[in-house]
Amino acid sequence: MSIIIAIDGHSSCGKSTLAKGLAKALHYAYLDTGAMYRAVTLYFIDHHIDYNDPLAVEEALKQIAIHFERIDGKNHTFLNGQDVEHEIREMRVSEHVSPVSTISAVRRAMVAQQKAMGRRRGIVADGRDIGTVVFPDAELKIFLTADVDVRTSRRHLELAAKGIDAEWDDIRRNLIERDHIDSSRADSPLRRSDDAIVIDNTLLSEEQQLEQALKLATERMELQVSRQ
Ligand code: DC
Repeated sequence: MSIIIAIDGHSSCGKSTLAKGLAKALHYAYLDTGAMYRAVTLYFIDHHIDYNDPLAVEEALKQIAIHFERIDGKNHTFLNGQDVEHEIREMRVSEHVSPVSTISAVRRAMVAQQKAMGRRRGIVADGRDIGTVVFPDAELKIFLTADVDVRTSRRHLELAAKGIDAEWDDIRRNLIERDHIDSSRADSPLRRSDDAIVIDNTLLSEEQQLEQALKLATERMELQVSRQ
């Protein structure tokens, strides 16, 4: 019985690592909703769109098509047919993505696509509003959190591994700023859904957090079967 797994939480607390691990173990699809907001942001930057201008945003959104492809077992984000997986992780995108994702027109467009992608079920999605807005009926909702210094160090390593050069202090400042904007925006702010299970992974290894989440997923799947 396929279920929907929703993972929300602060920036760089390992949501995508957990989501990818779960998707692999369960043979589910992985939906990286942050990548979609990042792709929109990249488009706005590259096309010099003033995102404070509602008309310009509406027009630009009509020109944006985002899809995902698996290449060598990895999820790649495509913007208008071009692989932008690397570029959307750069700091120039991280600096603007939170303000861009406060725009209701942007959220409406992304959430509609995300809901459509979830129709098949058997999906693990991560983001900020997955359990609250995108998939409020998800059978398993996880809210991930971790200490900010640990998150900064993980992000620093992750970017370095991708060949993206960024200062530790700049990363930390950006994480705190994004957490603040993401949690305080008017439209679908980051918050823990009442029925989400909190996992603090500050002291957990990737394997340990995956093990905890897989146990929860198995329980929810069994519950689904017993209800049929
Ligand atoms: O998960 P991420 O760091 O790649 O996400 C980038 C930004 O996108 C994040 O700062 C807030 C926004 N976002 C959002 O508003 N809603 C989502 N479901 C996913 C991401």
